[in-house]
Amino acid sequence: MKPILICPVCGEPLAPDAHSYRCAQGHCFDRSKYGYVNLLQRQKKKLRGDDAEMIRARRDFLEDGAYRPLLDAAAEIVCRIRPEQIADIGCGEGWYSCGLLHRLSPGTALAGIDISPDALRYAAKRAARESLSGQTEWAAASVNRLPLGSESCDLLLNFFAPCEAAEFGRTLRKGGMLLRAVPLERHLWELKQAVYDAPYENRPVLDAPDGFVLRDVQRIEYRFPVSGKALHDLFAMTPYVHKTAPAHIARLNALTELTVSAAFGLLVCERASGAV
Ligand SMILES: C[S@@+](CC[C@H](N)C(=O)[O-])C[C@H]1O[C@@H](n2cnc3c(N)ncnc32)[C@H](O)[C@@H]1O
Ligand SMILES: [Zn+2]
Repeated sequence: MKPILICPVCGEPLAPDAHSYRCAQGHCFDRSKYGYVNLLQRQKKKLRGDDAEMIRARRDFLEDGAYRPLLDAAAEIVCRIRPEQIADIGCGEGWYSCGLLHRLSPGTALAGIDISPDALRYAAKRAARESLSGQTEWAAASVNRLPLGSESCDLLLNFFAPCEAAEFGRTLRKGGMLLRAVPLERHLWELKQAVYDAPYENRPVLDAPDGFVLRDVQRIEYRFPVSGKALHDLFAMTPYVHKTAPAHIARLNALTELTVSAAFGLLVCERASGAV
C-alpha cells in the first residue's frame, strides 16, 4: 500500500509511474532518480529548509543511536494507535519515519514531507536501503500546503519541525492523531554552556495546537556521552550552527568529549471532532 499524494495545482490524486507522478488533469511532476517528487509551488516568501550539511550531520548523528530512547518512546505510542496511513511532516532525512515504520505492520503506508529536497534525497535513499520503498512516498512541499487529501491520514508525525494546525486538522481523519516531538527546556544544555557565555533555556509549547485535544505528554530525559565527530555533528544539525559567532565555534572545536542532556517532550494530540 502506498500513500496517496495529491496534485498541488488541482488537488486530484497523483498516480506514480516509473519516472513521474501525474493527475487526471494531466499535471505532471518528475520523480527524482532518488525516488522523491518535488511538489513545491512558487512561494510568495521563499521558505528554506535545512541545508545539505545539516542533514548529513543529522543522519550521521542519529544513526549512532543517541536519540534511540525517543524513537522507542514514540514507537510505543504509534503501535498503540495502529495507523494505516501516516504522514511525517518535516520528516528530514527519515530516521524517525523509517524507524517507526519498521515497528508497524507491513501494510502501513507513510508519506514523508519536507521543504528541503536535500532531506528527501537522503530519506528516499534510506527507504530504499531499508526495503521500505513500497510503503513510502517522499515529497518536497511546505507544511502550510500539504499535498495530502483532506481527512486522508490516521496519524501525523511532527518531530522538531514547524506545526501548521489548520493544515494538520484538514489532512487528519476524524479522531486521527498528531504526535509532536519538541525540545524541552534544558535539551543539549551542557553543549550550549560549553559554547555560549549565557545560554538560554528553550521555551517548549506543551499544549495541543488549535483544533486538537491533548491526550498525553511524555518527558523523555537522559544524559549521553558524545565525542569527536559525533559532537560536531550534534552541533551542526541544529539551527545554532548558523547563528553562532566564530569565537564561540572555536570553543566547540576545542572540545573532544562531553556528557549532554537530552530532554524531549512527546505530545499526543487528537483531532477535535469539529475540526476541518
Ligand atoms: C530539525 S529538522 C527535523 C527533521 C526530522 N523530523 C528529525 O527529527 O530528524 C526540521 C525539518 O523541518 C523542515 N522544514 C522547515 N521548514 C519547513 C516547512 N515550512 N515545511 C516543511 N518542512 C519544513 C526542515 O527542512 C527540516 O528537515
Ligand atoms: Zn492536477
